[in-house]
Amino acid sequence: MTNKSLAKRPEDTCVLVTGGAGFIGSHTCVELLAEGYRVIVLDDLSNSSKEAVRRVRRIAGAGGERCAFVEGSILDRDLLGRVFAENDVDAIIHFAGFKAVGESVEKPLEYYWNNVAGTLVLCDVARAHGVKNVVFSSSATVYGEPEFVPITEDCPKHAPTNPYGQTKSMLEQVLSDLYAGDGEWNVVLLRYFNPIGAHPSGLIGEDPKGIPNNLVPYVAQVAVGKLAAVGVFGDDYPTPDGTGVRDYIHVVDLARGHVAALRWMGGKVGTGEPRGLGSVAGEPAPDGTRRGVGIFNLGTGRGSSVLEVIAAFSRACGRELPYVIKPRRAGDIAVNYAACDKARDELGWVAEYDLDRMCEDSWRWQSMNPDGYAS
Ligand code: WQD
Repeated sequence: MTNKSLAKRPEDTCVLVTGGAGFIGSHTCVELLAEGYRVIVLDDLSNSSKEAVRRVRRIAGAGGERCAFVEGSILDRDLLGRVFAENDVDAIIHFAGFKAVGESVEKPLEYYWNNVAGTLVLCDVARAHGVKNVVFSSSATVYGEPEFVPITEDCPKHAPTNPYGQTKSMLEQVLSDLYAGDGEWNVVLLRYFNPIGAHPSGLIGEDPKGIPNNLVPYVAQVAVGKLAAVGVFGDDYPTPDGTGVRDYIHVVDLARGHVAALRWMGGKVGTGEPRGLGSVAGEPAPDGTRRGVGIFNLGTGRGSSVLEVIAAFSRACGRELPYVIKPRRAGDIAVNYAACDKARDELGWVAEYDLDRMCEDSWRWQSMNPDGYAS
């Protein structure tokens, strides 16, 4: 078998987490360590902080000893070679990538180079070391303007409206083609909806650079007094209160979805056969390690409007947060939320936390760390 086996205990499994110092990556490392995995974080710290790794270890307690950190880029072939040569990596959870929608429009070359070329280098070096188990951090953005909601994995992909989204869609195709050309590949594409919230300890959370582009980190900075008021991008959408509706998912729920994906890849759960166009699953290896491409939406299946988010965050922080209605933001869609039956049936995973809990945890992180990791 020219792929590492995943049919073994977490305690015997080493996971390379690229971008593991980032928002979703750091929360995923916490859950991996809690399950007993050995974790190697590779991060170039271009949009994250080494402090996040220190806090992941703090949350993990004794398990923190199983978390190693390597600073560097997925584009660095020599560094990747050393990581794989010096560690018995069994699987990769691949978060590393630039992710700012607006910035990607201004800097397409940097986005395609870092996200796409970087992933090609990563897969080439991994393959050379017999590692073909990859969980990829994808996004609901690959659906573009969805043909229907709730969105299932069979919903046709539409051309994303920005280079960032294009890199996600292209990399889904690349990873699917790796399996089409070599049946040993074991790939899971996780399509995130809107990750928000923070670890309940308040030690790790979302720490965007500059003025936040996304709603909840912006609201959090209004709540902590760093920004004056929330700008609501349009209140004339065809939605109950006129503002945009999204499927917000707690980052801890999202992180646990990655652990569930690893178990699935090892053939441990989700005996249900992959359903729909979204999955291409080959015959498992003799030891049960899966082969093929599994595609899963990770969301809650519930939509919340911008005004509902502001109201929930106001409850969490104990004061009415000010907002002003502004024109629609270019490229925004009215409604976007997931159908998550497939992740429930095959991964055995369901999001647990509601919007109030997401905002409570986000508020705790923000109020304890008003300047993010810098503070
Ligand atoms: C949510 C809602 C806005 C900011 C983005 C990326 C997507 C994914 C998740 C990575 C919308 C409204 C926002 C503000 C507002 N990222 N809004 N005022 O656009 O759904 O998705 O993040 O994969 O690729 O596109 O998230 O948080 O930016 O917006 O009114 O200051 O909040 O119009 O309705 P979005 P968002």
